[in-house]
Amino acid sequence: MQEKVNERKTNHLIELIDIKKIYQMGDTEVRANDGINLTIDEGEFVAIVGKSGSGKSTIMNIIGALDIPTSGQYILKGQDVSKIKGDELATVRNKMIGFIFQQYNLLPKQILLENVELPLLYAGYGKKQRREMAMEALKTVGLEDKWKNYPNQLSGGQQQRGAVARALAGNPSLILADEPTGALDSRTSKELLDFLSKLNEEGNTIVLITHDRNVAEQARRVVGLKDGKIIYDQSVEEYRKQA
Ligand SMILES: Nc1ncnc2c1ncn2[C@@H]1O[C@H](COP(=O)(O)OP(=O)(O)OP(=O)(O)O)[C@@H](O)[C@H]1O
Ligand SMILES: [Mg+2]
Repeated sequence: MQEKVNERKTNHLIELIDIKKIYQMGDTEVRANDGINLTIDEGEFVAIVGKSGSGKSTIMNIIGALDIPTSGQYILKGQDVSKIKGDELATVRNKMIGFIFQQYNLLPKQILLENVELPLLYAGYGKKQRREMAMEALKTVGLEDKWKNYPNQLSGGQQQRGAVARALAGNPSLILADEPTGALDSRTSKELLDFLSKLNEEGNTIVLITHDRNVAEQARRVVGLKDGKIIYDQSVEEYRKQA
């Protein structure tokens, strides 16, 4: 197969170029991210690890288009999102990224189906299409028969799977998970991790944040942060040896 030679090489899904996020706290400067360079390709499963305060959530918020860096560039699927603000940032987020965040729980007053439909609504899909896409996502996580249930009528693991369905429903380019197993018991947590691995095997790109070694070992590549900087970037096999 012949490749086009003069096209810019943008087959990276994510390209972070010298990303800095600096907070001015009175006289002191907090460098939450201090020159992050990282590329992630489609189909990867990457864990970002590091101690509390190392800058994991900060970089995740930037990758998730929830926040913009103080300086540096963030290219997502060839588009520079580091400079987009407000509504446009929200559109990028809703169209391209599925979130599985511990704190992004299901809304208690909406049934499961409505919860899963919510990001599709923000992304601008019509009612009929939302319904179809949401049911499809519920099928993927094995909850199609629970679509009418309110979150409190689901087990903890089912709720988490519901949140996964919500993340998947819009066929996002990227699935982001910040401490996704933080609130789960070990069995439910294993279920979720197995599920993420399966999604990755099916071609989904996953970036997961954790401070838990066992969780990180489920990924295929592990990126270590310290004081806002990357201190290692290795395959999971290398990471396991490093123990
Ligand atoms: N809004 C803010 N204002 C000032 N400092 C902040 C702000 N947000 C984060 N920080 C600081 O930036 C650093 C990185 O924070 P971050 O939340 O990214 O850490 P983390 O690796 O996610 O930690 P944890 O594992 O505890 O969640 C910390 O020192 C934190 O105090
Ligand atoms: Mg954090």
